Amino acid sequence: MTSGWMSQKKFFFNSNDGIINFMKTKIRKVDKNQIDDDIINEAGNLLREGRLVAFPTETVYGLGADALQEEAAKRTYEAKGRPSDNPLIVHIADYEDLKKIAVNIPAETDMLAAHFWPGPLTMIFEKSDAVPHGTTGGLDTVAVRMPEDPVALALIRAAGGFVSAPSANTSGRPSPTTAEHVVADLDGRIDMILDGGAVDIGLESTILDMTVAPPVILRPGAITAEMLEDVIGPVTADDNSMSEKSARAPKAPGMKYRHYAPKAKLVIVEGDLREEILAIRQLAFEADRKGRPVGIIATSETLAFYKYGIVKNIGTRENERSVARGLYKILREFDEEDIDTIYSESFAAQGIGKAIMNRLEKAAGHHRIPAADIVKLQKYRQITFVSGTDSARGPMAAELLRHCDLVQEYVINSSGMVVLFPEPANQKAEAIMKSAGMTLKDHSSHPFDGENIREDTLILTIEESQKEKILSEYGHSDSIFTLNEFTGDDTEIPDPYGKPLTAYGECYEVLNRLINELAEKLNSLTEEEK
Ligand code: TXA
Ligand code: MG
Repeated sequence: MTSGWMSQKKFFFNSNDGIINFMKTKIRKVDKNQIDDDIINEAGNLLREGRLVAFPTETVYGLGADALQEEAAKRTYEAKGRPSDNPLIVHIADYEDLKKIAVNIPAETDMLAAHFWPGPLTMIFEKSDAVPHGTTGGLDTVAVRMPEDPVALALIRAAGGFVSAPSANTSGRPSPTTAEHVVADLDGRIDMILDGGAVDIGLESTILDMTVAPPVILRPGAITAEMLEDVIGPVTADDNSMSEKSARAPKAPGMKYRHYAPKAKLVIVEGDLREEILAIRQLAFEADRKGRPVGIIATSETLAFYKYGIVKNIGTRENERSVARGLYKILREFDEEDIDTIYSESFAAQGIGKAIMNRLEKAAGHHRIPAADIVKLQKYRQITFVSGTDSARGPMAAELLRHCDLVQEYVINSSGMVVLFPEPANQKAEAIMKSAGMTLKDHSSHPFDGENIREDTLILTIEESQKEKILSEYGHSDSIFTLNEFTGDDTEIPDPYGKPLTAYGECYEVLNRLINELAEKLNSLTEEEK
């Protein structure tokens, strides 16, 4: 009965090959707290007729079709441009319905369903004859999930109980987490889109193969191995199905296809968070110097540390679920940018973090670099100018250095030995800097904090007395120099305090020269290290 379909099962429907006739896609807003039965019935009737309706689930948007109609599955593959041997997940709304589509259901299933259904867990069973091979990509097993979203549940019931739904993206793009994403990919190719707003989880369901004992996780998701084990005891993770290098045929056929890859090269930077930030700063800085800004996947906590590149916030580290929710959205956004490379911070592979890293690594084609490799090349990563009141010479030196052509990224700041409370920069110093096209308007004086000196901080004092004081109070010696000493230029830096504007101008001239020499020295240090 399926021979016609099966014989062309390797056929790849290209999204641009004109097989699909353009159709008008109806877009209907639905409120999950107040479901409009007319809209759901209209959508359900379309599915009963073998048509395609995209709908929200708590994981990602799905592209729904009647799971029991061979023709409907075929349309699904065509609309997505997906290889037709990549099976679909059948979505049900009532637990009793599982028995109609699956056979030899293992005993643990009851417990798992009681705990996790409705929810982001897909289980694989031997299929019954009711399910056509078109839906299962030719396999004798069927993947089943009961989603939690009330709109999804209402739609499944209105459609007769069995709705196959892959993620509602064009094959090769990130799964959609909003109806807008579905429109961007499938407008004109499907009959209807139910817009239920942004999804909750943002990553596809956990897939658990129940046809083997103990069950095997084929795809990590919001339901973690630990959560499953709390209910049924040991499960295993099929790391083969997740690794590109695997020689064995993957169990979830979807895993064998080239996964979503952003247009730009995505690289995951790995290390402790501080190192990751420093490494990405440096990489972004170098790219910027070459006139090719990079994209950066940052978090609420780290956003402010990046000065170069196109920086996007994926979510907060305080709540990894927000990161999961932001991942596909941010990847879609970067596809709109004219960039060659995206650098991403990494996330702990625990809880939902495992699913986050799984999707991120796939998108990166497993491309990653250790942050330490980048930062170890840099002896100094921070330069602090120390003066007396941190109101004129220190901040001027810092601002001058920020305007130099440096081959390495530094945190550049200033502080003072006698600062009691924050004050803006001296007005005459600001006037001189302004006339040179710079400004100290954001400066606020800052007391020197010797307790927080790090090995990678180069401390340059304006006067010898400041260096002496730091040495006697804190005893750090390796990285403290006067500016004169470090540059090897002993031109005295005049103190303009209380003098007319011209004195500030003279001070500026000296500083300008010393800072240019400093920049040259720093650049030569970086080259030597490399
Ligand atoms: O969260 C989700 O699971 C979403 C929403 C819409 O429910 N759906 C989803 O479907 O992610 P899709 O088609 O994008 O991914 C389904 C994955 C594929 O990797 C497929 O190969 C695998 O499930 N799969 C489906 N049926 C299978 C089967 N019988 N045996 C092994 N793997 C199967
Ligand atoms: Mg998918």
